[in-house]
Amino acid sequence: FPIDQTRAFGKLILFGEHLVVYKAPAIVGAISAYTDCKLEYLDEPGLEVVDNRPAVPHYKEEKKDEGDVAIGLTLSHLGVDPSIRGVRLIFGGDLCCASGIGASAAQVVSLARAISVSNGTRSLTEDEINAAGYEGEKGYHGTPSGIDNTAATFGGLLRFRRTDGPPVFEKVKFPSAIRIVYASTGITASTTKVVGDVRSRKEADEAWFANIMDRYTSLVGEAEKVLEAGDMNRLGELMDANHGLLQELTVSCKELDDLVVAARAAGAVGAKMSGTGRGGLMMALTPTEEVQNSVAAALEKLAPQVWKTTFA
Ligand code: PMV
Repeated sequence: FPIDQTRAFGKLILFGEHLVVYKAPAIVGAISAYTDCKLEYLDEPGLEVVDNRPAVPHYKEEKKDEGDVAIGLTLSHLGVDPSIRGVRLIFGGDLCCASGIGASAAQVVSLARAISVSNGTRSLTEDEINAAGYEGEKGYHGTPSGIDNTAATFGGLLRFRRTDGPPVFEKVKFPSAIRIVYASTGITASTTKVVGDVRSRKEADEAWFANIMDRYTSLVGEAEKVLEAGDMNRLGELMDANHGLLQELTVSCKELDDLVVAARAAGAVGAKMSGTGRGGLMMALTPTEEVQNSVAAALEKLAPQVWKTTFA
């Protein structure tokens, strides 16, 4: 079984979580850590799931029910019915599952890839894999924007925008390596709940939401230009500004804010929460390896788990 062909990447959202749900452009970077999936057909009907993925404490227990729904949705989307022919799925890889890293999308995309290669040939196109991942993601959060499964499927640094039809996305070119430190608060957030809460607040006060959206739209427009020019200092300032907007949206929390402040104090040129928020992850932009190491050391004193990655 060609397990390496089932890899699906984790991701970090550099700009635009939550607002991407309402068709704002976002920028997402896939990281090199991945989830993979081995698929075995069984003699008896039934579904067995073996989850060997590394994870932050409590993540897997808290996401178990949503994960079961997501797996079921992906299987049925691709016409696999374990009540007719039994299936064992073994999830692994080096992506440490934590809220905000796109672990749910990586899981369902790796499952779609496993189904694609399970008969020894790649039977699904990349777009079909991405579409199956999107269906699966609905199990984890009812109305996903599609940003996570797209990054999990295609990798790279992407500009992504949801539309009424299929999403629009393209690779962003950038001249210099982008060094990142990211840290988990150790709190697993429910994306469905936080996205639903933002929706209620928006419906209660459309003017408030439109004002945040306007400021974000000009911010992300500049971020694209700054990325292409390789101006890390300005990129960092824009990440700080995006964090401010997420605070206004009420999706940050004290734990995230404390990590963001600590990262800036340790030399990061910018820092923000990334993903769902109210727990989950934050990320910091660190211009050199030295700063990357000192920011990681500072965050290790506060956060249960800290990682380094580079988009290159
Ligand atoms: O926390 P994550 O990695 O699942 O990211 C969710 C991103 C949101 O913008 C909050 C939701 C979405 O569907 O885009």
